[in-house]
Amino acid sequence: MLSTPILLDYQSSTPCSKDVVDAMQPFWTEIFSNPSSKSNLASINASAILEASREKIEQNLLLNNKKVVFTSGATESNNLALLGFARNYYKKTGNYGHIITLKTEHKAVLEPLDQLKKEGFLVTEITPEKDGLISEDNFIKNIRNDTFMVSIMMANNEIGVIQPIENISKICKLREIIFHSDFAQCLGYIEVNDIFSDVNMITISSHKIYGPKGIGLLLIDDDIDLEPLIIGGGHEYGFRAGTLPLPLIVGFTKAIEIAVCNQKKNAKQLLMHRNSLLKGLLENNSGLLINGSLTKRLPHNLNLTALDLNGTKFHKLLKSKIVCSSGSACSNGEPSHVLLALGRSFKEAESSIRLSIGLSTNSQDIKHSIQILTDTIKSLR
Ligand SMILES: Cc1ncc(COP(=O)(O)O)c(C=O)c1O
Repeated sequence: MLSTPILLDYQSSTPCSKDVVDAMQPFWTEIFSNPSSKSNLASINASAILEASREKIEQNLLLNNKKVVFTSGATESNNLALLGFARNYYKKTGNYGHIITLKTEHKAVLEPLDQLKKEGFLVTEITPEKDGLISEDNFIKNIRNDTFMVSIMMANNEIGVIQPIENISKICKLREIIFHSDFAQCLGYIEVNDIFSDVNMITISSHKIYGPKGIGLLLIDDDIDLEPLIIGGGHEYGFRAGTLPLPLIVGFTKAIEIAVCNQKKNAKQLLMHRNSLLKGLLENNSGLLINGSLTKRLPHNLNLTALDLNGTKFHKLLKSKIVCSSGSACSNGEPSHVLLALGRSFKEAESSIRLSIGLSTNSQDIKHSIQILTDTIKSLR
């Protein structure tokens, strides 16, 4: 029997890659000056490294006319984009307008939008189709004369489905609606560089791509203005005050470079393991439902419902053998709002698992996981 559980939860977080750790190393103890102070040579040096990091990110993501704003992670980026843009819109126009999102967004989008509802804005949460994808017709039907912002994620954190972002962005552009998209789960896993210029505000997280935790990005069109959430120093174009964590920024920059460079190769490897995991599970078990479209999907994500068993017992039995997720890592033990939005019952949502594959997952891990999952399912039926 294996002593340590098999890790299949890489959509929650990834370890820092060795190259990322090496890149950060000098910035903890040697190059530690405040990059914003510019009062001495060491700070000027740190500032140059900060700006070089911004430029490297622009080059790696092929950005055009976008500001690169560092935040503490995707949660903060989503908050800054949504609260910051809506509040600025109200300040400029005196109107509480209408915002569109998807029911299956991450809570880091849905909860800031709930806050905006309390402040007076109108929010429509569109229910996706049964496969988790938004219907473009339904999206268009929900647009109103006062719709000023749309937030729809590129790839879902629970079911991995990839939304038609290019088309949504075209629809928004035509109607002069600002479009925000949460890219936390997709950078490094699918080809996205062509899409950056189509989306007005983009959220990226470092710890999903083998970078350090505590750092993220909001990419914003140059002509967009936001009300800051954190004030006190005017850093980051006045959008986000606070001394910048240079070690994390250097590590994140390296992680982006590696993720973009290896995207195709990594996606191929992840997809191969994901597909053998799925094949093995379907061959050995009846009553498994795949949640979300299998074709428009991240290569490292699998989300399954095991019918006719007790979900709580299922997860309890798996705990010591496979590290996986019962929904989103942030769902606080409640049945997944994503699976419920797809039409799964409470019972089905509870007996569902998200298995997400990482770069160090190997064929043995997949083989053992199929065996463990099959034995567990059999023992519960
Ligand atoms: C789609 C999505 N958005 C936002 C977040 C929050 O990211 P962070 O941990 O960088 O704040 C996550 C994390 O799971 C996510 O998957």
